[in-house]
Amino acid sequence: MLIVPPDREPDGGAENALAHRLFSTRAHSVALTAALTPEDMTVQASDDASPTKWHLAHVTWFFENFVLKPHLAGYRIFDDAFNYCFNSYYEALGPRHSRPKRGLLTRPSTERVFEYRAHVDEALRRLLARDEARKGEIARLIEIGINHEEQHQELLLTDILALFASSPLKPAYQSVSIDLDESEAATFGWLEYAGGIRRVGHDGSGYCWDNELPSHEALVQPFKLANRLVTNEEWLAFMGDGGYETPSLWLSDGWAAVNREGWQSPLYWEKSDGGWLQMSLQGLLPVVPSEPVSHVSYYEADAFARWAGARLPTEFEWEAAATTVSDSLARSGIFRPRAAQSPADPKGQPAQLFGDVWQWTASAYLPYPGYRPPVGAIGEYNGKFMVGQHVLRGSSCATPAGHSRATYRNFFYPHQRWQFLGLRLAADAD
Ligand SMILES: [Fe+2]
Repeated sequence: MLIVPPDREPDGGAENALAHRLFSTRAHSVALTAALTPEDMTVQASDDASPTKWHLAHVTWFFENFVLKPHLAGYRIFDDAFNYCFNSYYEALGPRHSRPKRGLLTRPSTERVFEYRAHVDEALRRLLARDEARKGEIARLIEIGINHEEQHQELLLTDILALFASSPLKPAYQSVSIDLDESEAATFGWLEYAGGIRRVGHDGSGYCWDNELPSHEALVQPFKLANRLVTNEEWLAFMGDGGYETPSLWLSDGWAAVNREGWQSPLYWEKSDGGWLQMSLQGLLPVVPSEPVSHVSYYEADAFARWAGARLPTEFEWEAAATTVSDSLARSGIFRPRAAQSPADPKGQPAQLFGDVWQWTASAYLPYPGYRPPVGAIGEYNGKFMVGQHVLRGSSCATPAGHSRATYRNFFYPHQRWQFLGLRLAADAD
């Protein structure tokens, strides 16, 4: 099954562009569920992962609470109980169902969640029929809602992978025959960058999250960045060299995690008589040596870099090397990282910046100088998570095309592995 990404071109004049993107994004979320049963959409694989049904309802709740309730006079709330069920973490919007228990919500039914979506879509259409809704504050909130739903489209896929990986049947989300790439990845090489004062953060044109602001100057020392991502073949060499058994390679918290969790390979890898297999959205398949390694924690990425005599890049080194403004790569429709075929693109940029795996950086997820969260409940979106997490840059094979950009800051806790998380090596200049 191929998932056709939404057509991001507007279907008419500029005033229709927002509505077009809104409803194509809304439709794409539904399209992602075409191969899922109601049971698939209800169960929760882990405390971190949410059921598909919850994602579908939560993004809809977001529009209902942030757009329709304040801005569409006479809007009828679909179901008063849904605020409790589908509020994720907004303290300002009231109490909510416990996150690890989202998979216990057999009610509302999946069917009723789709009715909720239709109800909210119809109200959004009514709102967008008004001129004032297509600009200013309402348009800004709808834009946030679109980008929020795109983030959940990625989570929906990674959470389905977590669910299917825990099934003894190892079902494939995408029933496609994968051409397992036997060719070698592009030869590893370093790209060298001069140090200096760099402008980092978003320059204000086009959409960005509040955590990409304000744009400011940062001092970057001369550095080297790998021309491509770390591959499964290189990870196998790390494993073969006792990487998971050598405490000197690991941060203390990382070594504790290795021992506590019994890590011996990336998440979703399992050993068979014929070699290593990895559960993927295409089912349980042999690990492909040339593909980028995925589903590794910050701790593992850091240990690998130390083993390789290198380090992880800082987020500003990554950004300095990625002059591409946005992740505009066409997607194949198959949610799977791909091997690097050429070491760098024609503009001399590193390969695989976007569209394969998010790349761990050495940078703690902290506010930029002068950062102010937005006023009101929406201010809870990013700012309150700025502790104990690391920044990841780029985008993954599950990120909707066009969603990310060079200044985008994703973030996860250092032990987390269930997203498409990989790494690119960096080093100090010689
Ligand atoms: Fe959310």
